[in-house]
Amino acid sequence: MKDYQIRWHIHADSGKLADAATRSILEQSEQAIRDRGAFLIVLAGGSTPAAIYRLLSQAPCEWNKWHIYFGDERCVPRGAKDRNDSMARNLWLDHVGIPPEQIYPIPAELGARAGADSYAETLAGVGDFDLTLLGMGEDGHTASLFPGDPTGAGPQAPDVLAVMNAPKPPPERISLSANRLNRSKSVKVLITGAGKREAVAGLRRGDDIPIRAIAPAAGLDLLLDEAAAATDPGEPG
Ligand code: 6PG
Repeated sequence: MKDYQIRWHIHADSGKLADAATRSILEQSEQAIRDRGAFLIVLAGGSTPAAIYRLLSQAPCEWNKWHIYFGDERCVPRGAKDRNDSMARNLWLDHVGIPPEQIYPIPAELGARAGADSYAETLAGVGDFDLTLLGMGEDGHTASLFPGDPTGAGPQAPDVLAVMNAPKPPPERISLSANRLNRSKSVKVLITGAGKREAVAGLRRGDDIPIRAIAPAAGLDLLLDEAAAATDPGEPG
């Protein structure tokens, strides 16, 4: 396991976590736009980010400087309600002024292998992300990097992986590799609900679960509510 810092941010409930995460994302976007004229963000799938995406849809922002990427996608048709990009579009992206050409969906409708090859071409000319948002499953998976499968953590790993047997439906998915996800100036993992407690405990113990492959140089920010953290706010992770 690579040595890296994990910063634990424990919030009383998921609403307070969403408020804090949204404020931090907006601050990071403003800094990136000041420094480099653009903000490159990777969006998380699953349901946890929904409250954050709703809050972002109401935020005044230099949306024309944002560039939207996705950490993973399910291999279902474009526009399907269970696509990760559908959730982000419905709650947020369709309601703000990000130029459509600056939203880079994963073409998972092509199937895992063809879609992964295509997205790798999209990412070929892209440098480090400014911020990567991730969720974590009850088994410690993140993006579509599942236990027992390669996480693509090595320095030579491809940017994008085809996933053919995911235990979380649908079985066919496309995921950024841990190596590519780690090429981010900041990584926030969003974890809420008592269902995640065992995976959080495993993370604390140093269990070899996929989330452990997410080890960005700048350290990892874990944002948890009390229910998931099973500790009181303010206690160390
Ligand atoms: C997906 C996600 C996945 C998700 C976790 C947590 O495609 O399902 O990318 O990695 O982030 O499973 O999901 P919840 O936020 O719904 O708990």
